Amino acid sequence: MSVFKKNKANHAASGNTLDGTAICENMNFASSEAYKRLRTNILFSFADNSTCRVVGITSALRGEGKSVTAINTAYTMALNGKRVLLIDADMRIPSISKKLELNKGTGLSNLLVGLDKVTETFQRYTCANSNIGFDIIPAGDLPPNPAELLGSKRMSSLLASLKQHYDYIFIDLPPVCAVSDALIVSKVTDGMIVVVRQDYCRTDTLKDAIKQLEFVEANIIGFVYNGATDGSGSYGKYGKYGKYGKYGKYSRYYSKYYGSDYNTPDSYEKRNQND
Ligand SMILES: Nc1ncnc2c1ncn2[C@@H]1O[C@H](COP(=O)(O)OP(=O)(O)OP(=O)(O)O)[C@@H](O)[C@H]1O
Ligand SMILES: [Mg+2]
Repeated sequence: MSVFKKNKANHAASGNTLDGTAICENMNFASSEAYKRLRTNILFSFADNSTCRVVGITSALRGEGKSVTAINTAYTMALNGKRVLLIDADMRIPSISKKLELNKGTGLSNLLVGLDKVTETFQRYTCANSNIGFDIIPAGDLPPNPAELLGSKRMSSLLASLKQHYDYIFIDLPPVCAVSDALIVSKVTDGMIVVVRQDYCRTDTLKDAIKQLEFVEANIIGFVYNGATDGSGSYGKYGKYGKYGKYGKYSRYYSKYYGSDYNTPDSYEKRNQND
């Protein structure tokens, strides 16, 4: 059930991103179970779930799987009967519209410069064979000043009004080590999730990203270990790095924030990289 009637574009995408990464109802069992664990941990991260929770999704580097994680987390939370909104706040290299094959339309940037009303921008993803789904505000036209727009009063008042209509708002963000957008938006979220892809990010880069988030007092509620093939999930047993090897230091971050983590198995056939 969507809260906004006008301009509702309803989509049942193919269930795969253009490069074959399975999303939403197309996830395999292992992945959908991993996202259900993630969902449970998010639900437990906030004592009081009677009000809408805003959760930002970022990573240290580009390409770690933030957008796929944001989509699958929004979908899995909607499966749980929650009213969910996914906002594409990566106004530099947005990808949610492409991954969900949405109409090219206006979005967050247009809202933040006051050009459009929410009802004009939002679209909806609905599963192929059910009416489970979630609303989406795409990134919109690429603005010259994303960081300023994200830090604007309009952004916080937009979120405040949207929170009246949803149980969870997930915000897909650019990486921390590339631009300051995620740091700025972390101030208007209830929590941040950091996506870390297996064999992708160097320890010191992840360390730097976490330090930057901590510096702005972001509430890191957990890490997603994305694309794990070693099935272990915990950094401690992270591939060739041995129990506390390369990421040892971060196990403490993990356990401090989570005690456990969740890994989204890399079990998708990658067809080609034109995502
Ligand atoms: N667990 C996974 N298994 C296989 N492929 C994945 C997985 N997660 C992401 N991908 C693929 O990796 C690429 C990058 O993923 P995604 O776009 O979600 O990353 P991102 O962190 O949002 O990137 P950016 O920083 O550019 O926004 C995409 O082609 C996506 O389909
Ligand atoms: Mg992305």
